Amino acid sequence: MTSLRPSSRIGGFHKLSIPQRIDAVAAFASLGEDEKAHLLNTGNLSADVADHLIENVVGTMNIPVGVATNMKVDGIDRLIPMATEESSVVAAVCNAARQCYDNGGFITSMSGTLMIAQIQLTGVSDPEHARIRILERKTEIQSLCDECDPILVKLGGGFRDLEVRAIQTAGGTMVITHIVVDTRDAMGANAVNTMAEKLAPKISAWTGGQTNLRILSNLADRRLARARCVWRVADIGGEAVRDGMISAYHFADADPYRAATHNKGIMNGISAVVLATGNDTRAVEAGAHAYAARRGHYGSLTRWEITAEGDLAGSIEVPMAVGLVGGATKLHPTAKLALKILGVTSAEELARIIAAVGLAQNFSALKALATTGIQKGHMALHSQNIAMMAGAVGDEIDRVARVLVEKGTVRLDVAESELKKLRGVVA
Ligand code: MEV
Repeated sequence: MTSLRPSSRIGGFHKLSIPQRIDAVAAFASLGEDEKAHLLNTGNLSADVADHLIENVVGTMNIPVGVATNMKVDGIDRLIPMATEESSVVAAVCNAARQCYDNGGFITSMSGTLMIAQIQLTGVSDPEHARIRILERKTEIQSLCDECDPILVKLGGGFRDLEVRAIQTAGGTMVITHIVVDTRDAMGANAVNTMAEKLAPKISAWTGGQTNLRILSNLADRRLARARCVWRVADIGGEAVRDGMISAYHFADADPYRAATHNKGIMNGISAVVLATGNDTRAVEAGAHAYAARRGHYGSLTRWEITAEGDLAGSIEVPMAVGLVGGATKLHPTAKLALKILGVTSAEELARIIAAVGLAQNFSALKALATTGIQKGHMALHSQNIAMMAGAVGDEIDRVARVLVEKGTVRLDVAESELKKLRGVVA
């Protein structure tokens, strides 16, 4: 049977130039000249850099970068660049930070900058014996790992520890080796993956088993960023607000259905800074959610309590594998600017600020949910998106959005009819 749709088998697509690839995609998807021109406009990321960051590039995707104000972290005022398509996210951080600014803002710390790489070993009949044999080689393993990255060692990083476990799986007993490496200002994936690949054949030789996977773990639980903050009860609207927020936290920590949404809100803030700084959002997200399930039950990434003075104390502890060197962080001009705006000089400093942003985000979400509900503030901003979707431009956007909010119906059909009315009056 012949397909009416064009074929996706485009040989040598990766070897084409960006304009040639756009032509091929345009032929496939019947794109017009305007659409091709849109793809060709890569904005403030040069086509050349984009083409070297990933494969088969045909364009770029612009996401707004907003700056969260009012943040004070460890006594230092910071402006926080956040890349997100979701309305309310930046405003939420500004609001939370404003309400704790006079009380000192956020205090942060970090467990270290250690990453783990795993080596999977199968096919050993005596896994406990094999485990001990690998552990005996710690000094040799340290030299082998450090030789892979002398620059990292010079910068104070390198191999730190060796852990080996025999685990039971559906495929039999496996011996899993962890190398623990201080990756300093690098996120560290390349460094630890190289070491794991170098070490794997040795592990096979020492044990007689077969090594299979050699890859970092995104459960970066030796790289925990921590932030805490106290909001004075008088600054947040009183005891009823405080108690509502704590009850919301208890709900999240007990129920995975709620915890997923609660943590998603936290990640709204975290991922926006991770993205703005050119770091790997998926690595941080995977680490955060795995960490939230570490007790064998998926729960909250934050903790909320009442202080002896009756104020609201919030804290967060979350794996934060971010770096300042390597990849998009160094190549993307907007990421470089984001780091300059933040004024950070180490990956640790960045990670700690990001944890504070996650806590701020959670504060605002819980406060809104425990009081007026999320829709009031959200719809006020969302109404502008709806106005734009209806075709409003320039000052029409605010005018249509205002009417939608006043009417309490933030809907596309209402926006379209309001825009028609507005243009009728103007005409
Ligand atoms: C929306 O993106 C995030 C929230 O749902 C978070 C939460 O419910 O805690 C508001």
